[in-house]
Amino acid sequence: MEIKKIISGNFEVTVNIKVKDTDNTYLLRIKNAFISQNFIPGQFVMIKPDFCCSDPLSARPFSVFRKFNENEFEVLYRVCGKGTELLSNVKKGDYVSVTGPSGNGFKILNNKKSQNIYILIAGGIGIAPLFSLPDFIKNHIIKNSIKENEENENYDLEENNKIILYYGSKTENELYFRHSIHSSYDEVYFATDDGSFGYKGNIVDLLFYNMKDYCLKNFELENKDKNNEKDKKNVFVNKEVIKSEENVSIKEQLNIQFYSCGPKPMLSNLINKFRDYSLDTFKKNSLQVSLEEHFACGIGVCLGCVIKINSYNNSDNFIFKRVCKDGPVFEASELYNY
Ligand SMILES: Cc1cc2nc3c(=O)[nH]c(=O)nc-3n(C[C@H](O)[C@H](O)[C@H](O)COP(=O)(O)OP(=O)(O)OC[C@H]3O[C@@H](n4cnc5c(N)ncnc54)[C@H](O)[C@@H]3O)c2cc1C
Ligand code: FES
Repeated sequence: MEIKKIISGNFEVTVNIKVKDTDNTYLLRIKNAFISQNFIPGQFVMIKPDFCCSDPLSARPFSVFRKFNENEFEVLYRVCGKGTELLSNVKKGDYVSVTGPSGNGFKILNNKKSQNIYILIAGGIGIAPLFSLPDFIKNHIIKNSIKENEENENYDLEENNKIILYYGSKTENELYFRHSIHSSYDEVYFATDDGSFGYKGNIVDLLFYNMKDYCLKNFELENKDKNNEKDKKNVFVNKEVIKSEENVSIKEQLNIQFYSCGPKPMLSNLINKFRDYSLDTFKKNSLQVSLEEHFACGIGVCLGCVIKINSYNNSDNFIFKRVCKDGPVFEASELYNY
């Protein structure tokens, strides 16, 4: 079994600056070669300013945003309370206490026999754990291809693997790094609640509007009450599915992986739409979500972060798992009533 190394100590801050055009979002850069070189997107670090009290519960969890260089990694955080306010006062040259990289990260499933589409769905600051994922996916595919090269010399990486981003927020200023984000993706879609940039509305609706382009047959509505008001606005997707039936044989060979992080209402909406549309889709195509529950200890001891996970072995049909230790990334189909 792979043993995960987690480091803990005080490390120097080299940058802590407000992100341009935002009121309350900061980019924090910390000197630590191990985290920079070894984190998996989706993993988190517990951070606390050195001048804070000794209470371990005052450390706060943040996703590792990206590797800046071999010796430094970055965290993108939004000030929303006491802990993040204190963190925003940290200056270059100060030290912060850091524990990590903790938790699991996103898993990459790549199928050489099909076309692979990786669809990332981010809401606001939920871009943080997803930001490094495109590079991680590309490295994973390249490493695997090198291993299997003799068998598959004609494999076209670019042609057979697409990475797509759906990024939504309340307003344009909360689409962090939107100017530089394009180069990592084959396609990028933006949505804002106020219509200040991209599609006006929520990003999950936009994804489902376009879903017909990614998976056709898999996406037929099942067990649906077609007269239900709630479902009416989505019925057009089903019509398109039927219209495009002739393409099914090509599209059936798709391996589609979905990765998401965002506010709880967005994730619930996404997961429920997956459930509604087709149990089949939900089983075949993995949707991994990174959950941002409130943490206290962050090391699996206090049980302050438990969530319900489906279980078919007990009468309640669920068991509890700790987001900090068993997550924060979960397969959405595992989540009980999320
Ligand atoms: C695994 C993980 C990764 C995270 N990654 C990031 C990240 O990369 N960038 C980032 O900005 N934030 C991230 N968060 C959320 C971040 O940890 C919280 O915003 C932070 O702990 C708030 O601390 P605080 O003392 O400033 O606020 P508090 O005083 O604790 O709370 C202030 C307000 O924020 C709300 N709040 C606190 N924690 C959360 C939470 N987890 N989710 C939703 N609302 C919350 C509270 O209900 C309250 O209304 C992550 C959380 C988890 C669990
Ligand atoms: S935060 Fe303490 S067990 Fe998860």
